[in-house]
Amino acid sequence: MTVMLADGRPMPRLGLGTWPMDDEEARPAVTHAVSLGYRLIDTAASYGNERGVGAAVADAPVAREELFVTTKLRGSQHGYDAALRGFEESRARLGLDYVDLYLIHWPLPGRDLYADTWRAFVHLREQGLARSIGVSNFTPAQIERVADETGVWPAVNQVELHPGFPQRDVRAWHAEHDIVTESWSPLGAGRKLLDEPAVRDLAAAHGRTPAQVVLRWHAQLGAVPIPKSANPERMRQNFEVFDFSLSPEDMARLDTLDGAGRLGGDPDTHVEL
Ligand SMILES: NC(=O)c1ccc[n+]([C@@H]2O[C@H](COP(=O)([O-])OP(=O)(O)OC[C@H]3O[C@@H](n4cnc5c(N)ncnc54)[C@H](OP(=O)(O)O)[C@@H]3O)[C@@H](O)[C@H]2O)c1
Repeated sequence: MTVMLADGRPMPRLGLGTWPMDDEEARPAVTHAVSLGYRLIDTAASYGNERGVGAAVADAPVAREELFVTTKLRGSQHGYDAALRGFEESRARLGLDYVDLYLIHWPLPGRDLYADTWRAFVHLREQGLARSIGVSNFTPAQIERVADETGVWPAVNQVELHPGFPQRDVRAWHAEHDIVTESWSPLGAGRKLLDEPAVRDLAAAHGRTPAQVVLRWHAQLGAVPIPKSANPERMRQNFEVFDFSLSPEDMARLDTLDGAGRLGGDPDTHVEL
């Protein structure tokens, strides 16, 4: 089950998030996820687990081309040359010839280097080292700037997204510009969201778990969620969300949870190294 990126490459519709796993935790988690059918794995230089993810990918009983490995550039490596170095370091830790999707982790507008960074990403795509390139935590204005300066649009923007923070305007803008929305903290980071009566009622009505209801909401919005779990049973349930559907009334009930706000950083002010 895939969504087509604007660059013509398919991306799985759901993946495994690996933050905050370390190498020791990530390796068995990714191995188990692949055995369950997960094909998209989300990591980042700043997570400190690229070696563990790469070891699991190397051992996976499926062909490399079947897997979709995403990693992200850390903030301290913004700028053209630094970004190319950052990519090579990630690729070496992962032990891969190429990554499927490379993202600028945060725009860091205060440093004003993200457009130069994006030029390096365009080069990496031209070299085939990053098959697809995108951004994370970028505002529409920041995306427009990198597209204006290079003529190349990000295929993906990975942003915080869950029923408490549904980002309607951002999603609509992505759709207009053929950018896939990828959802981080899709379960609301496993906190209050899964205990909300609206989520619990729908779970009971469909004979599903609260997490499955929330992940189904993402799927029906056309977003790609990357739930993190290191627990085999929760990893299994998180993957089994493509065999039931929520009605328009169910979706409207989940819309009532809008208003909880961000759980993570704000793209305009967040500083990440
Ligand atoms: N681009 C960015 O700036 C950015 C920022 C944050 C995160 N991310 C990515 O997005 C991924 C997911 O985000 P996240 O980890 O913040 O939040 P999340 O996936 O919404 O929630 C993860 C939490 O929910 C729990 N959980 C998972 N499945 C569950 C289930 N079925 N039932 C109940 N609890 C469940 C997990 O615990 P167990 O492990 O114990 O199951 C964990 O505590 C990260 O791993 C990372 O890859 C990206």
